[in-house]
Amino acid sequence: MIDRIRQKAEQYYPEVQAIRHHIHSHPELSFQEFETSKFIAGKLKEWGIEHQTGVAGTGIVGLIKGKNPEKRCIALRADMDALPILEANTISYKSQNDGVMHACGHDVHSSCLLGAARILNDLRDEWEGTVKLIFQPGEEKHPGGASLMIKDGVLENPKPDAIFALHVYPHLPVGTTGFRAGQYMASADEIYITIEGKGGHAALPQQTVDPIAIAAQVITGLQQVISRKGNPLIPSVLTFGKIAGGFATNVIPDKVEILGTFRTMDEKWRYEAHKWIKDFTEQTCAAYGAKATIEIPAGYPSLFNDPALTAKAEGWAKEYVGAANVHTLDMRMAGEDFSFYTHHVPGCFFRIGTNKDNKEFLAPVHNAHFDINEEALKVGVGMMAWMVMAQ
Ligand code: NI
Repeated sequence: MIDRIRQKAEQYYPEVQAIRHHIHSHPELSFQEFETSKFIAGKLKEWGIEHQTGVAGTGIVGLIKGKNPEKRCIALRADMDALPILEANTISYKSQNDGVMHACGHDVHSSCLLGAARILNDLRDEWEGTVKLIFQPGEEKHPGGASLMIKDGVLENPKPDAIFALHVYPHLPVGTTGFRAGQYMASADEIYITIEGKGGHAALPQQTVDPIAIAAQVITGLQQVISRKGNPLIPSVLTFGKIAGGFATNVIPDKVEILGTFRTMDEKWRYEAHKWIKDFTEQTCAAYGAKATIEIPAGYPSLFNDPALTAKAEGWAKEYVGAANVHTLDMRMAGEDFSFYTHHVPGCFFRIGTNKDNKEFLAPVHNAHFDINEEALKVGVGMMAWMVMAQ
């Protein structure tokens, strides 16, 4: 069976590559994937694959029934959105939408899922169960297309027994895959703090409430809060990426804004930390006579790869790409909205290598020079199909 999948992945490669080039050259921002969605739906229609459009806006849910369709349901997910980056590559399929770029490989994910769908549809008399194809919007943007697809019922009728997604990975060579069982990626919550003091002359601090001095205390103090209140065995990171306030050397401003992100690998500690961040900031500001407003809207949860499912998937990957080409991944403090699915059904989010012999295509994701060695499309298409048929 593996040989037949490989053969078909090879046969459909030119078309999958053309699909990828089309999506890559017509990137659309999160939740605005209108043309991308139409294009994908058009392919499913052309191949006679049953699907529903307009799920959570631009999302698409397809179904392919094998033998005994009731036996199990396996969901395969791809994201469709691009990033607000001006592409710096000089390739024939460069972005035609200036300032928008598929710099996180979501064009690749959608193309691989289409290719796998075609193979699974061709071979539908040779595997059991139902496959649910999920093309989702807005992976890159709060509140995450995955959370909206779930609200719209993507995990019901039929409810998947397992869900898989792949992601490009420029840190591994093409032909390889990467897995990590258990906690893999972090929760990611944004933090918005405003410290309101009382402005005045820099020479007369006693007549002011200096929000800049207080902000300095808050920023350094919060690092201490995270390191002293968090279990050192749970990875956590608190980063402030923006601080804004003030006008001149000799003026104390009225207020300072601080923006940041908190990430961790434990859902209980995640919310405890939010409370510590709020309490510490409020109380520190109050001690100096300032007022603090803190908002920490819940972002993506941490991504948990079901250990049993991941062990099986790793086994299938070893069969498909060879044991030497299956790597164990390190945890990452980045976020990924596939995590929402993993809190409802057993999930496995894995990587496919996209660089060439560690020499080319090394630009990281979210970089204006990002691109892949397209041989990886064959691996992505084949792996997705095999994960369904190997069950
Ligand atoms: Ni991504």
